[in-house]
Amino acid sequence: MWATAVGVARVRARETERENALFRDPLARAFATAGGLGTSSPPPQPGDEVERRRRLGVATSIVIRTKFLDDLLRQAAASGIRQVVLLGAGMDSRAFRLDWPEGTRLFEVDTAEPLEFKASVLRRERAEARCERITVAVDLREDWPGALIAAGHDPAAPTVWIAEGLLIYLSEDAVELLLARISAQSAPGSRMGLTLGSRGVIERFGTRAEPGSAASMWVWEMPDDPVAWLAGHGWEASSHTLRERAAAYGRPLTTTPQPEEQPGGLISAVRR
Ligand SMILES: C[S@@+](CC[C@H](N)C(=O)[O-])C[C@H]1O[C@@H](n2cnc3c(N)ncnc32)[C@H](O)[C@@H]1O
Repeated sequence: MWATAVGVARVRARETERENALFRDPLARAFATAGGLGTSSPPPQPGDEVERRRRLGVATSIVIRTKFLDDLLRQAAASGIRQVVLLGAGMDSRAFRLDWPEGTRLFEVDTAEPLEFKASVLRRERAEARCERITVAVDLREDWPGALIAAGHDPAAPTVWIAEGLLIYLSEDAVELLLARISAQSAPGSRMGLTLGSRGVIERFGTRAEPGSAASMWVWEMPDDPVAWLAGHGWEASSHTLRERAAAYGRPLTTTPQPEEQPGGLISAVRR
C-alpha cells in the first residue's frame, strides 16, 4: 500500500528537474530510486489509453496539490501555528525543504514500514530537518491521537493538519472517524489541508485500473458539497478545483474542461 508514496516521490522528482518547477524536492529522487522507481528511465507506457490518461492526470494532480499544500503550510506558519501533523506522511519531505519558524514541531504519522524505509534513505542522504521532526508509527485506523499525544502533540495549541493523497484510500467510515478525531484534537485557529478524490473518478479510472496499482485501491470520493460536510465537523472550508489552481499556478490543464474529469479536490480549512 505504501508503494504509492514512492510513486508520488517519483512525480515530485520529475517536477524538481523542470526549469519552471512549482516546488523543489531534492530528496524525492533518492526516495524514488531506493524504492525501485528511478527517474532516469520513463515510466512504463501502458498500451491502454484510459490508463495513460489516468497516469498523466494523477501526476498533474500531485504536482498541483503539492504546491497548494506548500502554500497552505507557509500561511499557517505565518499565522503563528507551530505544530504540523502530516497524516499518511509517506515520502513527504516538507520538514527538510520548507523554511520553518523557530519552535516548529512537525509530526509525521504513517505505519512503521514506510517510516523505516524513509529513515534509511534520509540517513544515507544525510538529510537534516529544518524544524523539530517527530515520526509517529501508527495505523490511522487505530488510536493515533493517543500515539500523537504520547509523541508530544499538544491539542490545546493550534495545529495545521495535512492529509494529502490519503482519504481516497480509506472507507467512508474511516474518513468520518479520522475527521472527527482531527477535529477533537484541533484548538480554535487550527488549519487543515486535504486532497479529495473528485466525484466519479473511481468509476472512470479506478475500476479499470491495473490490479495492484494505486488507482485499484481507491475507495472514497468526496461528498457532493465538501464545504458543508466540513462545516458539519466544525471547519470553515474553501474548496478549489485542480483546474482552477493549475491555471493560477501558470500550468493550465490541457485537457478539455469537464468538471469531474481529474482526480483531486483541494481543501483548505480553518477550525471555528
Ligand atoms: C499516496 S501516499 C501519500 C503520501 C504523502 N501524503 C504524499 O502526498 O507524499 C499514502 C500514504 O498514506 C499512508 N497510509 C495509508 N493508509 C494508512 C493507514 N491506515 N495508517 C497510516 N498510514 C496510512 C501510506 O502508508 C502512504 O504512505
